[in-house]
Amino acid sequence: MRKIRLTWEDTQKGPLILVTPDHPLSEGWKPGRMVPVMDGSPVLLEKRAAEMLGRLLKDLKSNGQIVPVSGFRSHEEQIRIWEDTLQKEGEQFTRTYVAKPGHSEHESGLAIDLAEKRDEIDFIRPDFPGDGVCGLFRKKAAGYGFVERYPAGKEAMTGIGAEPWHFRYVGPVHGRFMEQEGMILEEYIAFLKENTSPDHPYCQIRWEEGTCVEISYVDMRGKDEWLLTETEREHFSWSGSNEGGIVLCRHRKRHG
Ligand code: DAL
Ligand code: ZN
Repeated sequence: MRKIRLTWEDTQKGPLILVTPDHPLSEGWKPGRMVPVMDGSPVLLEKRAAEMLGRLLKDLKSNGQIVPVSGFRSHEEQIRIWEDTLQKEGEQFTRTYVAKPGHSEHESGLAIDLAEKRDEIDFIRPDFPGDGVCGLFRKKAAGYGFVERYPAGKEAMTGIGAEPWHFRYVGPVHGRFMEQEGMILEEYIAFLKENTSPDHPYCQIRWEEGTCVEISYVDMRGKDEWLLTETEREHFSWSGSNEGGIVLCRHRKRHG
C-alpha cells in the first residue's frame, strides 16, 4: 500500500492547471522536463505531452503536413514575444493573441501552436484549418489528451481571441470528457468544483477494459494536506487546478 500526501504545492502543477489572465503560473514556477516534439525539432513540450503529440501525428500519418510552430517558451521568451508584438501590431492585437508573460500556457510546456505546412507560416497566428489532415487532427486530438484551448465563442471566458491553432495538453481522460461535454478548461474545473468531491465523484467511466475512473475536485484552501492510500486494486493520479484545488482521478480495477 502506498501512502500519498498532497499539499498546496500540488495545486500548482499538473496537466489541468489553469494558466489564464486571472491565474498566473505560481511564483518561482520551474518548468519540468521539456523534450523536442519530434527528433531534431527546436520546438519543445513537457515530456508526456510531447510523447502523446508524437503518437497522434503518427496515427494521422500526417507526413510533415502538420508543423509544430511554438511549444514551450521560457518566461524571457514570452516577454520578448509580447514586446515584439506590441511594437509591431499594437496593444489590442497583442492582448488578443499573446498572453501576458507569466500567464501563458506556453510557459508551462503544455501548449502547442500548430500550422498546416506552407512556405510562409505566421508565428503568432498560424493557419490550422478545419479540414484535411488538420481536421483529422481535431477529431482525434482529445483521445490523445489535446484540446482546442481558445475556441471562437468562448473569448469572454478565456480572455484570449479565438486561436484555432493553439492546443493544450490535459491528458486523454479529461480531454475526452471535455470534448464530450463541450467544456473548455475553465468550465471543466468549475463544473468539477461545484459538483464533485472525493466521496461524490462526477462519474465513473470505463477507461480501459476492466477499469473505471472516478473524477473529483479537492478544495485545498484552508487544508494542510490531503492523504490518499493506494491499494492493489486502485491507484490515483492528480493535477492541480492552479486556483486552489486538486483534480483527483481514482483508477479502480473492477472486481471479478
Ligand atoms: N497565444 C497564447 C494566448 C499565448 O501567448 O500564450
Ligand atoms: Zn499558443
